[in-house]
Amino acid sequence: MKGIICYYSGSGNTLLACQYLKSKIKNVDFELYDIVKNKVPDFSKYDVVGFATFADFGDIPQYFCSFFDKIPPQSNKNAFVFNTCGFLSGRTLQGFADKAKTNGFNVLSGYSLHTPESYPPMRNRRMPFDNSPKPKDIKKFNDFISRLDILLGTIKAGQTPENEKIKIGFLNSLLPKMPRTKAKEDMGKQKTDENLCIACGTCEKVCPSGAVHLKPKPVFSHDICCGCWACYNHCPKQAIHTEKYKGTGQYPHPNDNVKQRLKV
Ligand SMILES: Cc1cc2nc3c(=O)[nH]c(=O)nc-3n(C[C@H](O)[C@H](O)[C@H](O)COP(=O)(O)O)c2cc1C
Repeated sequence: MKGIICYYSGSGNTLLACQYLKSKIKNVDFELYDIVKNKVPDFSKYDVVGFATFADFGDIPQYFCSFFDKIPPQSNKNAFVFNTCGFLSGRTLQGFADKAKTNGFNVLSGYSLHTPESYPPMRNRRMPFDNSPKPKDIKKFNDFISRLDILLGTIKAGQTPENEKIKIGFLNSLLPKMPRTKAKEDMGKQKTDENLCIACGTCEKVCPSGAVHLKPKPVFSHDICCGCWACYNHCPKQAIHTEKYKGTGQYPHPNDNVKQRLKV
């Protein structure tokens, strides 16, 4: 069977986890598809669809919601949902499953994996969780992958699988709903240190919303910015800063622990 995993990964943790999952699943040959700046793929070519992202203010990122809004209604296409998180996913997994179901997908199962924190304000609060995922997290992730593979095997055999309940856990259920506008308020407006900036264009390239343009140094469209911190995290010279944060808390790429634990 053929499958596609549509992923959104700001700093690479989710992508690594998807590559890991793909390598372990035996019943489906998964293709990985970056949703950023790309069209909705033709799902009719695939037997199963995975949706993967990072937790963003306790829910799925706004960018992924816009992607879902563009998906034509599906007729019970089999799917699964997955997210990484730096601390607490909140309702990310549930929100993901609900969105997919609204689009007509049959959600087989879902899982959240604890990875390092990529949200600079949390890293600055000395909560980087750089040693996640721990071996026990990987064990649980492997268990999820095995169960998913069994469900996929059932479908391959022409039988109807019994979907798993999407569980978000007690602590996640306690996380209050946070308005997405708070993300932008917390970030404040980005500025560029003209002395550090080398006009390399990384910020323009990594911004999912097209809110940064080089003229020749970065100019920000604050009304379009969704507050994802990609420009801040990825600037190789740490030239992009906000009113509160300058030169600290960046997480541009998966750290060595993540790379080693999710090694394919
Ligand atoms: C803007 C932003 C908001 C975030 N919000 C949350 C959150 O609510 N809960 C959480 O556990 N992690 C949160 N994180 C951390 C990421 O979900 C986590 O580090 C994730 O593994 C990053 O995945 P990626 O490397 O694929 O982008 C946030 C990160 C960013 C950049």
